Amino acid sequence: MTGGYATTRWDKKRGTGSMTGTMMKAGLAILLGTAAATTVAARDQAPSTGPGTAAPGRAGEDALHRADATLRQMTQEERAVLTHGIMPLPVGATPPPIPADAIPGAGYVGGVARLGIPALKETDASLGVAYVFGLRRDGATALPSGLAMASTWNPALIEQGGAMIGAEARAKGFNVMLAGGVNLMRDPRNGRNFEYFGEDPLLSGTLAGHAIRGIQSNHIIATIKHFALNGQETGRKFVDSRISEGAARESDLLAFQLGIEIGNPGSVMCAYNKVNGNPACSSNWLLNTVLKRDWGYKGFVMSDWGAVPDLQAAMNGLDQQSGGQLDKAMFFDRPLAEAAAGKPAWAARRDDMNRRVLWAIYDNGLDKFPVSPGGKIDFDAHGRIAQDTAEQGIVLLRNERSALPLAASAKRIAVIGGYADTGVVSGAGSSQVQGQGGPAVSIPLGGGSGFAAFIQEAYHRSVPLKAIKAQAGDATVTYRNGRYISEAVTQAKQADVAIVFATQWSTEGFDQPDLTLPNGQDALIAAVADANPNTIVVLETGGPVLMPWLGKTAAVVEAWYPGARGAEAIANVLFGKTNPSGRLPITFPAAEKQLPRAKVDGFDVLEPDFTGNPPHADMALVANYDIEGSDLGYRWFARKGEKPLFPFGHGLSYTAFATSGLKTDGATATFTVTNTGKRAGATVAQLYMVTQAGAPRQRLVGYARVDLAAGASQPVTVAIDPRLLADWKNGTWSIAGGDYGFALGENADALGPVVTVRMKARRW
Ligand code: BGC
Repeated sequence: MTGGYATTRWDKKRGTGSMTGTMMKAGLAILLGTAAATTVAARDQAPSTGPGTAAPGRAGEDALHRADATLRQMTQEERAVLTHGIMPLPVGATPPPIPADAIPGAGYVGGVARLGIPALKETDASLGVAYVFGLRRDGATALPSGLAMASTWNPALIEQGGAMIGAEARAKGFNVMLAGGVNLMRDPRNGRNFEYFGEDPLLSGTLAGHAIRGIQSNHIIATIKHFALNGQETGRKFVDSRISEGAARESDLLAFQLGIEIGNPGSVMCAYNKVNGNPACSSNWLLNTVLKRDWGYKGFVMSDWGAVPDLQAAMNGLDQQSGGQLDKAMFFDRPLAEAAAGKPAWAARRDDMNRRVLWAIYDNGLDKFPVSPGGKIDFDAHGRIAQDTAEQGIVLLRNERSALPLAASAKRIAVIGGYADTGVVSGAGSSQVQGQGGPAVSIPLGGGSGFAAFIQEAYHRSVPLKAIKAQAGDATVTYRNGRYISEAVTQAKQADVAIVFATQWSTEGFDQPDLTLPNGQDALIAAVADANPNTIVVLETGGPVLMPWLGKTAAVVEAWYPGARGAEAIANVLFGKTNPSGRLPITFPAAEKQLPRAKVDGFDVLEPDFTGNPPHADMALVANYDIEGSDLGYRWFARKGEKPLFPFGHGLSYTAFATSGLKTDGATATFTVTNTGKRAGATVAQLYMVTQAGAPRQRLVGYARVDLAAGASQPVTVAIDPRLLADWKNGTWSIAGGDYGFALGENADALGPVVTVRMKARRW
């Protein structure tokens, strides 16, 4: 039992090394339309020095002492090294020289060989080692999207996935992963929702913490990001997220706080957006007050790429300038050195910046367990982890007349649409992972933009049609791509079952205009479902979508972006080899008018732009998060009395469960979960606060995923983090005295009997 959720610690198995390639200089120049790199490193194919079986480095205090000792030995020149980095790629107006030991990836920060300080070699991101347009010519294992991971509600599995992607990063020679995305879903149209863990601070924060733990078990640094309130992509470099301090602390900041407490990440990446008027990467309140003073964070804050406004950001708490060629100047190099040479306060600040980076290096043992590229990766074992995650994350949304699992009597199966004959879709942007051999297919959608290489709708080589055929026995399986509705309808009419695959691709840099399925897929599904009542819809979406055709269908499966072995996971759920256990980590609205805002702010006036820069210097854009405050997602629906299409926490199973006997004193809760059905399965017990000091207010305060054999019961205990019951008022957490109601829920909308606890007022 851990604060707020029950989990078992995953027993770590580490991958050992991988392959790497030489940089495809010409290819990159073509892809990015920029000048070629100044230097290109050809690396040895040496096996990586893996972390072996040593326990994760939690050097803690010792790391602080070592950081101090090293700092004392550093010359003034050396103190200017760790505070800034480049993108080791030929990008930017003036691409910098690329050091010989750099690896094509997101970032490179020099080391100090004399003092044994390793260079920081940084790769994106949370779903695996990013592909960077194939420059390294090495695939990696793609985990399913963040929302798929969150749908597992399984911290131990998420930690295992983190350990897996961290092992691959390490094997490729990276010692920093820009992984640990934990922004809350404030708008379901946000193009990056797929990278994050949903809308709830407890679920998101705990899962991010475990992902980080897993990654750092490889003696590399993980990066919780994007700090903070990075809620939309539209105008991402200048949108101002306005929110009261209390609301922020009770929601988005709490997710970060939990993630940091559990995961102890070496670094935090600040966000592109502004927060209450100041750039997040130059926000004294966010970085100095909240993160470093109040939370006692010891690691370093790195900027997002191209997010540093000026040198003053250092004084406001930023410790390292990343991808410096994307900023107006390399502020944290010469300008910082000059300031430090002239003013003691600046010298002290720069020492602190160095100390923090050194702390992260020592705390994770980067120096003692040096990385080198060229190790081996067990793609098979890693693929199994990705598949396991996909299977636990697939959410069975609807299952009329037990249409699923598919019956043996289904002798003719019509598979339709969604590139199901080719692969499973993935999300795009800097986090894009591709497997070995690259994508099955990649559709360019970036036009002539400088970032076109990022903006591709890519499909992993995991083929639903093939996976379905492999399990269909003697049934006939046909496929039509769904481009022509009449053709799909003809197939559906002749089949016992029609399975329509529908995709909604999304990417960093852009938001969705609305929640419809693109490219006429809604009409396709409706027509197929009209033609065949046994229509099963498999969704591969970045987030929630509207389902105008829902009532016509027999079943709906939300597979998200299911990752490297998504097709196999989907087929296992369809045929019943896997009993679905995913639960929604987000609310699926019934209509967009239920949301706090009619559209993503600025979406209607700004031209699509990956960089998110303002079209002119004086353009202002505000996202008013005080509308919903800390009541986002299901909390907003509860506050407004709105009925969603599918509530937060919803998910069906091929068996049935009951929870009973809730007892709580407001600090701990105990109850029993029983599998009342006929087959083994897993469920997620969800404990909600439903009244706060006598007033209606809904918040998830605990959860536990429970695996049960048919007929079996299990007692469960969860601890309730008092911050989830509290409000943030006048600089402290505050629990108002009064009655607090708690209820177990099948989901946020289907709650059991309420147990009321009288609580005393307290502040801390
Ligand atoms: C993204 C970050 C990413 C960085 C480096 C930025 O555009 O916002 O999430 O880590 O690029 O690639």
